[in-house]
Amino acid sequence: MILTTGGTGYIGSHTVVELQKAGFEVLIIDNLSNSNAEIIDRIEQITGIRPFFELLDLKNKEKTFDLFKKYPKIEAVVHFAASKAVGESVQKPLMYYENNIGSLLNILQAMEKYHCLHFVFSSSCTVYGQPDILPVTEKSIRQPAESPYGNTKMISEDIIKDFAVSNKSFQAIALRYFNPIGAHESGLIGELPNGIPNNLVPFVTQTAFGLRPKLSIFGNDYNTPDGSCIRDYINVVDLAQAHVVAIKRLLDNKNKNNFEFFNIGTGKGISVLEIVKTFEKVTDLKLNYEIIGRRIGDIEKIWAETSLANEELGWKAQRNLEETLLSAWNWECNYRKTN
Ligand code: UFG
Repeated sequence: MILTTGGTGYIGSHTVVELQKAGFEVLIIDNLSNSNAEIIDRIEQITGIRPFFELLDLKNKEKTFDLFKKYPKIEAVVHFAASKAVGESVQKPLMYYENNIGSLLNILQAMEKYHCLHFVFSSSCTVYGQPDILPVTEKSIRQPAESPYGNTKMISEDIIKDFAVSNKSFQAIALRYFNPIGAHESGLIGELPNGIPNNLVPFVTQTAFGLRPKLSIFGNDYNTPDGSCIRDYINVVDLAQAHVVAIKRLLDNKNKNNFEFFNIGTGKGISVLEIVKTFEKVTDLKLNYEIIGRRIGDIEKIWAETSLANEELGWKAQRNLEETLLSAWNWECNYRKTN
């Protein structure tokens, strides 16, 4: 049995589907602070299998320990549960440290106590800051975090590293996600931001659907070919599959080190304006947008070197930008029609 913390969230739910498709039994825990229990029904609709579910906040240490007592079959943990809004983290840093670091400590302590020692962690390309050399490899230096959120990812990686040094039986992989976008091809699960979206693609799809009057593009005076920022946008199902191969690597003892990390991206840099143009092309819609000033804290450009994940995990992004943006649009339309 694989425990997925935050398994009803955006990346978590897609990963549960892929884990089940790969034959794993899955237990989800979530405090539903940023997701909905209905996602469990939707996962069951897609896979035909209902994952186990426990409503649990990982900040509650006692209940976290009880979970491992109740489910002695847990053999590995994929840890998604965390707060993830960069701007909010600047306003509420203590909440971010408590949620993201406190929960990590509780889950690791419970794993240690119950001898469940396989761990996959959601990290982020945010640990690289603005790299001098592109694409970034796993050897690129980590830069001081720009936000409390980013800092929680740095600190989490360090905590996992220290624990791995102290306990050689503990086997961990951190996946450094680039920008996850898109949705499951069924249109049943996808990204569902609370309130006004911070991220580009949900803002694009909500604007196209008429929920927002227009998209603001944050800056066209960057040192990039069209002046807008560049990111590496990774399809969420491709990203979910990276977790499955990471889990298999750990369970099959194929890892070369007891703490490894991998960049999970496409290896391709795409600008904000390219996202808009591609979205318009695949949907045949005109998007209302305007270019405004830069957003504070944005980095200019980043994309991943993915050869380590390609070679070691045998994983490669499969889905192109066109189909990924179409899947995001399909999800937005499906969701709005039924809710
Ligand atoms: N953007 C816009 N308009 C919007 C939203 C975004 O122009 O309304 C632009 C941003 O300026 C940026 C690009 O779209 O250039 C992507 O922005 P996102 O907010 O979607 O993503 P970020 O790259 O800023 O942040 C993502 C994750 C964070 C993570 C970070 C790591 O959301 O969790 O990558 O670099 F920390």
